[in-house]
Amino acid sequence: MATKSIAFHSYKGGTGKTTIASNYAALLAKKGFRVALLDLDVYAPSLLAYFQKQPKKWLNDYLLGEADVDEVMTEVTDIIEDYSKKYDKAAEIRGRLWIGFCNVKKEEIYKIEGGTSESSKLQLRRFIVLREKLMRDYDLDYVIIDTSPGIRYWSINALAVADTLFLTLKTGDIDVEGTKRLASEIYGSLTKYGTKSFLLFNRVAGYCIPSHIMNSLEKGNDQNEGLMEPYSTGDAQDVLSRETRMDVISAIPCYCDIQFTKKEFLTALRYPEHPFTRQMEMLVNAMATKA
Ligand SMILES: Nc1ncnc2c1ncn2[C@@H]1O[C@H](COP(=O)(O)OP(=O)(O)OP(=O)(O)O)[C@@H](O)[C@H]1O
Ligand SMILES: [Mg+2]
Repeated sequence: MATKSIAFHSYKGGTGKTTIASNYAALLAKKGFRVALLDLDVYAPSLLAYFQKQPKKWLNDYLLGEADVDEVMTEVTDIIEDYSKKYDKAAEIRGRLWIGFCNVKKEEIYKIEGGTSESSKLQLRRFIVLREKLMRDYDLDYVIIDTSPGIRYWSINALAVADTLFLTLKTGDIDVEGTKRLASEIYGSLTKYGTKSFLLFNRVAGYCIPSHIMNSLEKGNDQNEGLMEPYSTGDAQDVLSRETRMDVISAIPCYCDIQFTKKEFLTALRYPEHPFTRQMEMLVNAMATKA
């Protein structure tokens, strides 16, 4: 199959981009796909929290011309297989996963901050070549790109090299005007050239509401009127989808156990039966049919 490259982006921060990108990439690898996951959240890299492997070199080194692609792509297939086996001895990772990590050190971030200098132009050219080299030399099925929120230099570059954009929204904390502007100004200019874009709603309300309240809400019981608010999220999704002219690829509920864990881990590998994992499975299927 032709390589698909998907960028996870959002207008506001903390919408779940890194959580979903990491779990989605790991699940794709488990299913037998060859996947590269790139940390293009260069201003606040955070993939190391999910994949505890110290890379030899960073994406920053590659962008600065100080490392080759092979030196900055760290294979984590073994790590995620060992991790899965801790919880299910029969688990296996049938594909492969490589990660391009970004350096968290401030001085390294400053070096690739972008601008109009010759060195910035070279960095951008190297970034475009990175995607080409990855596709050619790694025989990839997917390139997954995690980005910084908002309209920032490296986020826009990441969106420009992707063929599918997932605009991630955190339900209950959506800047409707900002999202619409982002969709029309930035996404609009990319989709003109064939890029596909979707809305991905995360932390949708509803999952934690006790079933007896859910039942009476479904029956239209007025006594729970005060609780009706979360159920308007479906309408909000429709309105935003219409106004941005983007289809909804997924609506993932908010799971308290994910929100309140002290340490980030790959739910999709640790708990194969978790409803979040089922959501990731659905996203894999939705991509296969819609994008
Ligand atoms: N479906 C979910 N249910 C509950 N908690 C979630 C869910 N998705 C993400 N979270 C939690 O939300 C927090 C923010 O998620 P994450 O770091 O992935 O967002 P982000 O968009 O990458 O943020 P940033 O813009 O800062 O990079 C994390 O604590 C994560 O565990
Ligand atoms: Mg993030």
